[in-house]
Amino acid sequence: MKIISSLSQFLVWRTSISSSLKVGLVPTMGALHDGHAALVKRSLNEADITVVSIFVNPKQFGENEDFNSYPRTVEKDCDLLQSAGVDILFLPQYEDIYGDDVDSFAFEHFFSKQLEGKSRPNFFPGVVNVVSRLFNIVKPSLSFFGKKDAQQLILINKMVNVGGFPIKIIPVETIREPSGLAMSSRNIYLSKSQKSSASKIYKSLLLAENLIGRGEKEAEIIKNEIKKNLLIDPSISIDYVSIVCLNDLKEVSGEVSSPVLISIAVFIGGVRLIDNIFYE
Ligand code: PAJ
Repeated sequence: MKIISSLSQFLVWRTSISSSLKVGLVPTMGALHDGHAALVKRSLNEADITVVSIFVNPKQFGENEDFNSYPRTVEKDCDLLQSAGVDILFLPQYEDIYGDDVDSFAFEHFFSKQLEGKSRPNFFPGVVNVVSRLFNIVKPSLSFFGKKDAQQLILINKMVNVGGFPIKIIPVETIREPSGLAMSSRNIYLSKSQKSSASKIYKSLLLAENLIGRGEKEAEIIKNEIKKNLLIDPSISIDYVSIVCLNDLKEVSGEVSSPVLISIAVFIGGVRLIDNIFYE
């Protein structure tokens, strides 16, 4: 695996690659776990060359969020990527991404103001900025995103369509701990008992799926059941519980009918965790 930690070096490498080869890009913020590994594996299977980027993007964090304390485990990440068989690890510097101080792709959309966008207004403008910049630098044919961050995946798809990026976005299923807890770099902030509380997030999503399967269609009732199930645990505080229509990301009022995204955001001991399921 070649490690490239500057834009100029990356561009030299990129021009040496034949245009007939399919480059796969897995953008990450590091502190890699089996969820990231699943994206890497897909890229290794589907692309000729796999590039993984690690960049903890300051622009997608809010002022009181965890940018400074975000886990940084580059050596361990290197080992994981090396043994997976990744071709290129790209570690851009801040100036490589933001040196020109222009938003490379300003993208405002109704979708980016829903769900996570309501709770974290900086998040999607920051994500779109960095991902569009990475797309322009890496010029991948394929790029891999996890369904764990469903709204991010949906928005990146929109961005690719609106911006005319010639890139196929490949969604990858959420990888979970045996308890059902979705893997996340932020899970390392959790104690053992907080982790066990966090496993209630996915259990509540399954409860919702089960309720719908048994004929309960009223969105409000389903959301209330999720909330009740979460709040049994005093260490959980809810940011939001939401059921949106997949086509327009609008909150379902009344009955759940078309494909929906059921999502949960909670705080456990100050750590913000999200998870979701697609009900189609
Ligand atoms: P990060 O949280 O590091 O996640 C990188 C990619 O891994 C994202 O596509 C995310 O959805 C996926 N991922 C995370 N946990 C997963 C899990 N348990 N199962 C499957 N996939 C999972 O998401 C970001 O970084 C950033 O916003 C980024 C896109 C890199 C832009 O800065």
